[in-house]
Amino acid sequence: MSVPTILAIESSCDETSASVISGGKVLSNIVATQAVHEQYGGVVPELASRAHQQNLIPVVSQALLTANVTKSELKAVAFTRGPGLLGALLVGCSFAKSFALGMNIPLIEVNHMQAHILAHFIDDPKPSFPFLCLTVSGGHTQIVLVKDYLDMEVIGLTTDDAVGEAFDKTAKMLGLPYPGGPMLDKTAALGNPDAFAFPVGNMPGYNYSFSGIKTSVLYFLKDKTKDNPDFVPENLPDICASVQKTLIKTLLKKLVQASKDLNINEIAIAGGVSANTGLRQTLQDFAKKYKWNVYVPAFEYCTDNAAMIAMAAHFQYLKDDFATQYVSPEPKLKI
Ligand code: KG4
Ligand code: ZN
Repeated sequence: MSVPTILAIESSCDETSASVISGGKVLSNIVATQAVHEQYGGVVPELASRAHQQNLIPVVSQALLTANVTKSELKAVAFTRGPGLLGALLVGCSFAKSFALGMNIPLIEVNHMQAHILAHFIDDPKPSFPFLCLTVSGGHTQIVLVKDYLDMEVIGLTTDDAVGEAFDKTAKMLGLPYPGGPMLDKTAALGNPDAFAFPVGNMPGYNYSFSGIKTSVLYFLKDKTKDNPDFVPENLPDICASVQKTLIKTLLKKLVQASKDLNINEIAIAGGVSANTGLRQTLQDFAKKYKWNVYVPAFEYCTDNAAMIAMAAHFQYLKDDFATQYVSPEPKLKI
């Protein structure tokens, strides 16, 4: 079989991204972040779709140019089918379908959450099967048992909010600018994680609940600011560090349990929240304590990017897993 050279598109949320992969090696990964949402303190779906429309062609051109690949060298075009925002997904899906038709090449539909996990196969060291992947993003919190590249089973998940949402919403309550997660992370680095105590939710099995901590932070702030309006500015790093510690503790408790029960010590993290420095550090500490081999993606492959879509598409291409022109986006696509 000839070496597959594939163009991949990611447009599920607020990053417009394109990547070229050849023979499993990522040649380019161009990401246009949409600044338009900053003033609203969160992603505005309609504005995301419009920005994808504007950004997509330049991002694709740049990805081809950086990879030094011409359109006629491409063997397939891949796109994120879901999960994500419908309007945003439609832009990438429509582009990829037209591109496939125009160039007469096959189309590959990729599951965004699978792709976050397959980002671990872009660079070395790569996990060996089976491994457990804690997949943590703005929309998802899952423990996934990864049996093979395209054979994954979700064994635990959040029953309400995603952990990324908990980061973002707490950050917003504390007056931190959008995007909240990375800002809370930065501020937490300056604070004492044991300054304040917040409750850790406990769900059955490997499941999570993150709506409780949001509410407890809200009541905590109401109580503390009652007599001291300057409480937040005076204690911001300590509050951030304490919230972050609680979220990390909750995430890792279930991961430790799953690792023990299934006797798996190949442990990975994926998704936007895996960029969190506290989580990355704690995972390294746990690696020593529990004799885990820990896999943490490079920062650029944690948050949304098309290189991970390209990596997934590569494995799908090798299995002749192609989509038809009848494919449409699926905002709630599951692993
Ligand atoms: O995977 P991702 O880029 O998009 C989704 O598919 O949702 O994840 C975005 C989420 C947001 O909630 C964002 O605040 C969070 O990842 N995030 C972080 C950090 N960087 C991104 N959360 C905590 N600390 C970070 N450093
Ligand atoms: Zn994502």
